[in-house]
Amino acid sequence: MKVLAIESTCDETAAAVVESFGDGVRVLTNIVASSVEMHEKYGGIVPEVAAREQIKSIIPVIKEALGQMEIDAVAVSYGPGLMGSLLIGVETAKAVAWAWEKPLLKVNHLTAHILANWIRKSDEDLVPSLPAVGLVVSGGHTDLILLKSLSEWEWIGGTRDDAAGEAFDKAARLLGLPYPGGPEVDTAGNKVTEEVWKQYKDKFNLPRPLIHDPSLEMSFSGIKAAIARLIESEKPLTEEKINVIAKEFGEAVNEVLVKKTLLAVEKYQPKSVILAGGVAANKILRENLKKEVEKVAGVKFFVPELKYCGDNASMVGAAAVLRPDEAVLDLKPEPGLGIV
Ligand code: KG4
Ligand code: ZN
Repeated sequence: MKVLAIESTCDETAAAVVESFGDGVRVLTNIVASSVEMHEKYGGIVPEVAAREQIKSIIPVIKEALGQMEIDAVAVSYGPGLMGSLLIGVETAKAVAWAWEKPLLKVNHLTAHILANWIRKSDEDLVPSLPAVGLVVSGGHTDLILLKSLSEWEWIGGTRDDAAGEAFDKAARLLGLPYPGGPEVDTAGNKVTEEVWKQYKDKFNLPRPLIHDPSLEMSFSGIKAAIARLIESEKPLTEEKINVIAKEFGEAVNEVLVKKTLLAVEKYQPKSVILAGGVAANKILRENLKKEVEKVAGVKFFVPELKYCGDNASMVGAAAVLRPDEAVLDLKPEPGLGIV
């Protein structure tokens, strides 16, 4: 089955064509247009600006993804996300499905992030064995999910307040780094040499919220306040200090994410651990979680290629192929949709 997938939940406008490939999917085309430069100017996402840009780019993006290909179905993420942005993807998908008389498949954006781990490039690429523990870390969500099968999922933990990605974005803003903040904090932190780190390490301590709590609950609002206080006390900031604070922040958030995922592994004894969502692009998180998970006998670690971590339409296509959920042509966006 060949699916045209459309994604427009936040500031990206994306289209892809994917097809089933053994026990996973294969990406034929993957096009993403981002209005990031516009948001850079405003220091964050302005929903109205995002939607205006998406209206302009949705048709060219779909055309580019499709080329001359024939497809069997149209898939679209219908939530969670920004209402104005969602409407553009959903309405376009409905029009295309209706005009070409193809089935319309609705996809939950968060489910799609997880199922990006089923994208395979070759026969050697394995897909996660189930049951699996999934950690979805994005701009709006931080959730731990138990995947018992491809369709039976259980929410087992997550943040009680802010999402990890949101905390990264806030930290970047406070450090004077440009939007989107997560990759900037990641890059700044990775510039710190061992020598410089030793010099500041004991002075720049940020909290690791709930790290010793035995539950799978997380919290990232306190760490946002703590970094604001640290920055205030260290003003004027030098580039070196910015980099060190960025590194400490990344380590603090990542330690919590890794610790809670390992607790979930201990509790649910999965065969795989799956990392997904925009924050899954974080270098330290990818490396540390992989290292720690692989110490546990019999558990394999999976994370999508970088281009399938942030918002993209291939993951939407993957979800449509692996968990097809046919929609009626009056599908409506659901901005507050949860993961299970
Ligand atoms: O999944 P995503 O692309 O969009 C949502 O569904 O929210 O996630 C975006 C989030 C943003 O908060 C962004 O700053 C964060 O992912 N992010 C990162 C990195 N790359 C993106 N956070 C930390 N390190 C990164 N390398
Ligand atoms: Zn996302």
